[in-house]
Amino acid sequence: MGLFTSSLLEQVLTTTLYILETTTTVFNETFASDVIEGLSSTPKFLSSKYFYDEKGDAIFQQIMDMPSYYLTRSEYQIFDTHKQALLQLFGPNCTPFHLVEFGAGDGLKTKVLLKHFIDQKACFRYLPIDISENVLSLLTHDLEINFPTLEVEPLANDYFKALDILNQREQNERKVILFLGSNIGNFEHDQAIGFLQKMRQHLNPNDLLLIGFDLKKDPSVILEAYNDKEGVTASFNLNLLDRINKEFDGNFDTSKFRHNPTYNPLTGATKSYMVSTEDQVITLEKLGKSFHFEAWEAIDMEISQKYSLSTIQHLADKAGFEVTSNFFDKNNYFVDSVWSVK
Ligand code: AVJ
Repeated sequence: MGLFTSSLLEQVLTTTLYILETTTTVFNETFASDVIEGLSSTPKFLSSKYFYDEKGDAIFQQIMDMPSYYLTRSEYQIFDTHKQALLQLFGPNCTPFHLVEFGAGDGLKTKVLLKHFIDQKACFRYLPIDISENVLSLLTHDLEINFPTLEVEPLANDYFKALDILNQREQNERKVILFLGSNIGNFEHDQAIGFLQKMRQHLNPNDLLLIGFDLKKDPSVILEAYNDKEGVTASFNLNLLDRINKEFDGNFDTSKFRHNPTYNPLTGATKSYMVSTEDQVITLEKLGKSFHFEAWEAIDMEISQKYSLSTIQHLADKAGFEVTSNFFDKNNYFVDSVWSVK
């Protein structure tokens, strides 16, 4: 009897342990393999798309509030100044349209447009797309309170999968896609073209794309935006090392790494590197991997590409779009470019 009980107990325990083990060691496989690939490469790299865990989302909010991070305020000003012209392009006289936003975030800038469109009795519906369910439900809740009459349909999905779903459902309604904040700048040139070509394939002849580009400008202004004295951008980058520590039981010591942003005025590439201040070995227990850093070895963390108008024209050409209009802020720091399908 005693024996039976103990073996039953053992069985229950093993099963419980098995369940615990499989649930606690479950981690994002793609993130894991990307981290292994990046830290095993020469030079080392990590993708900035992993900056945005809950902590990263919060730090990015802080970045957008900083005076030195001019991008958000420039685009806000563009929308505020040109909201009438934008509505004329999107859907004048109650021509119906779907306003689809890629990577909606907190929608601060978009709200300027939404408010104006609602006031003008435009006939549209707002469809924010974001892979973060959390971000979307916060935004939807906020919009319900601030714009009770607005039709909002959040899509928690991959951008293009969401467009596929939308395309299958309604073929006739015009889509206006918003891709704001110079998020395109996180792609290398070839990747950006690939992304825009894919976008083009998901649009119908009457659809529009409004895309934000951060422009080339005084290099010191750009560097300030990515190297604030308060260290907010540094902590945004360092947070990825913390995230890796948390998810893979790693031992990155963030005091042994330095955030180092650079701007190349020839290419417009603004890049952030994370530099190891000493020779060290980092172990990620859950992945059973170690990575050696030489003193002053760097990890390539992020590209935030800055553009010229001719590069923007070139991107549109390559991807099969026509540049319909460009809208600028008063400093000419930023442009929101409206593209139609060629
Ligand atoms: C959200 C990708 C547009 O590259 O400027 C801000 C992210 N990185 N500060 C950018 C970011 C450092 C931002 N984007």
